[in-house]
Amino acid sequence: MDDLFAICRASMVPDGQAVGYTLMRKDETGAGQPWPIIITRKGNNFYGFENACPHQGTRLDTYPNEFMDEDDNVLVCGKHRARFDLDSGHCFIGPCQGRDLTPIALIVDDGDLCISGIDLADEDGMDLVDHAPDVMITPE
Ligand code: FES
Repeated sequence: MDDLFAICRASMVPDGQAVGYTLMRKDETGAGQPWPIIITRKGNNFYGFENACPHQGTRLDTYPNEFMDEDDNVLVCGKHRARFDLDSGHCFIGPCQGRDLTPIALIVDDGDLCISGIDLADEDGMDLVDHAPDVMITPE
């Protein structure tokens, strides 16, 4: 079995919300490239997605303060306002309607949210200064 890489404690992702992280993933040359991801939560279920809109590949939180929907618990792309289900990553309205965020399999290990089978760079990227805000949506 591949090694597990712990991203965060499960308790750090509030129910009905989403949190963003940037990891470092090896590209085809072996160099590390920033790899922004989103972890969402519904109850005790956690879901991982690449933080890249299937429309133009833009980070959902590229435009500060425009990544959350005030009325629904959904992810929103700040660029053209596409909306995605928290659990499936499915876009149900917007320019990429019918398409999905790229899922990332998460493993809960002793309270940690982990990924496996991803070729991360030696440095994991967790210390990168991330100028974009965490993706965070708030239930009503
Ligand atoms: S880039 Fe996300 S909706 Fe267009």
